[in-house]
Amino acid sequence: MKYLIVACTLASLALSASAAELNGKALFQENCASCHGDTGKGGKLEIKGPRLVGDASTWKLPVFQRAVLEGIDDNGRALEAAMPHWKNSSFKADAGVAPRKEEVAAIYRYLRTVK
Ligand code: HEC
Repeated sequence: MKYLIVACTLASLALSASAAELNGKALFQENCASCHGDTGKGGKLEIKGPRLVGDASTWKLPVFQRAVLEGIDDNGRALEAAMPHWKNSSFKADAGVAPRKEEVAAIYRYLRTVK
């Protein structure tokens, strides 16, 4: 069991190293901006995604990842439509494969750079 944990830790370290190459801004614009606005400050169209910059972008990363992938917010509340539960879906460039946590982390890092 101990070895398994070590192996998993190493695997996730390797993944987070490769995450540096992910383009969080592009991932955000392709998959989220239609509802959350071009720079994550909230959508203007009918399907109004809330502002993420300065709000969800300040949550701890695992809480943000849970919200995006599983649709549960920082208070444990289920997020309503139209917010997709992304683990049942796929980012545009990923052709049907569910998003990885590292991709969500790249979006999170991008949102934290927006002023
Ligand atoms: C089709 C529209 C739509 C798309 C696309 C979308 N969202 Fe959302 N999102 C919403 C709506 C609407 C809510 C509010 C749901 C609620 O409050 O119950 C929401 C809520 C959220 C929340 C919780 C915000 C809070 O303060 O509670 C996060 C985080 C989030 N979205 C991130 C993302 C990310 C990251 C992407 C892209 C990978 C994305 N969303 C794509 C519509 C969308």
